[in-house]
Amino acid sequence: MQPADITAVTFGVGPDQHLVKAQALAMTRTHEEITMSANQLSGTTAIVTGASKGLGRGVALALAQAGMSVVGVAREPARLAELEAELGESFTPVAADAADPVVAGQLIDQYEPRLLVLAAGASPLSRPLHHQSWQSFSRNWEVDVQQVFHWTREALLRPMPPGSAVIAFSSGAVIAGSPLSGGYAGAKATIRYMMSYAADESERGGMGIRFISVLPQLTPATELGAAAVAAYAARSGQEVADFLASRGPALQPDQAGKAVADLAFDSNAAGSYLLAAAGLKELA
Ligand SMILES: NC(=O)c1ccc[n+]([C@@H]2O[C@H](COP(=O)([O-])OP(=O)(O)OC[C@H]3O[C@@H](n4cnc5c(N)ncnc54)[C@H](OP(=O)(O)O)[C@@H]3O)[C@@H](O)[C@H]2O)c1
Repeated sequence: MQPADITAVTFGVGPDQHLVKAQALAMTRTHEEITMSANQLSGTTAIVTGASKGLGRGVALALAQAGMSVVGVAREPARLAELEAELGESFTPVAADAADPVVAGQLIDQYEPRLLVLAAGASPLSRPLHHQSWQSFSRNWEVDVQQVFHWTREALLRPMPPGSAVIAFSSGAVIAGSPLSGGYAGAKATIRYMMSYAADESERGGMGIRFISVLPQLTPATELGAAAVAAYAARSGQEVADFLASRGPALQPDQAGKAVADLAFDSNAAGSYLLAAAGLKELA
């Protein structure tokens, strides 16, 4: 059932009015409505940011294979077009900056997704702290954190329908730190906090939207990860192959895709999860 309140939330009201209205409408949803729709993502639309390559591409493929229509967002159109050629009608490419404050609201209004996967992320400059500028240090705050802020806010304000989910990419660097990546680990820790704050707002407002963070292990299987692996190997005076040999199997994009699809389709999944080649591990 499409809740009647979706059409009632319009542009043109101030943020506070918008929030009060969204909360009031969400309060009218029954518990039954929320639990019944949690497992009904198949056949609906997912928006995946960072879908054109790396882990986000793995997620887009897995969700399309699981029967969802996927709207993939990235800035470079060429790689999106390649994915469209592979997936056909189940994939809609959107060349846009996921950290743009207007893009989140526009795409959520246009596509009415039941699932948001926020995988877009900037590649940090791989240098020690004192070789960063403030601009390079704060890059992941401007892109990764800002993106999650705008999309999360829009998801709560609209609000997305009960049974919807928002899954944001944090990082295993939150646990171990990332001394060659400027503000990256702190930015990713903030994303994890933001998902937990948003989950609390969803619960308080009776919205039935799940907010989940995933913390992938460092992997050389993507451009972002390969650059970081090369920097940490050089720092420890090792060849990349030796550095990797001590770390066990590397997470692959298809494994990340399957893991995120599992979280999306499991209505009991909540909170934050470490993500490694061996699978997901729920964090306390
Ligand atoms: N790989 C790892 O080892 C690792 C470990 C932990 C966490 N993560 C996190 O996992 C996520 C995916 O990483 P990845 O390794 O798959 O990176 P990747 O291979 O570099 O891919 C990044 C994706 O994000 C898109 N993107 C970047 N900035 C964007 C923006 N402003 N707006 C829209 N799209 C944007 C890129 O496309 P365009 O450049 O065309 O926009 C690309 O599709 C990131 O959040 C990353 O921090 C990765």
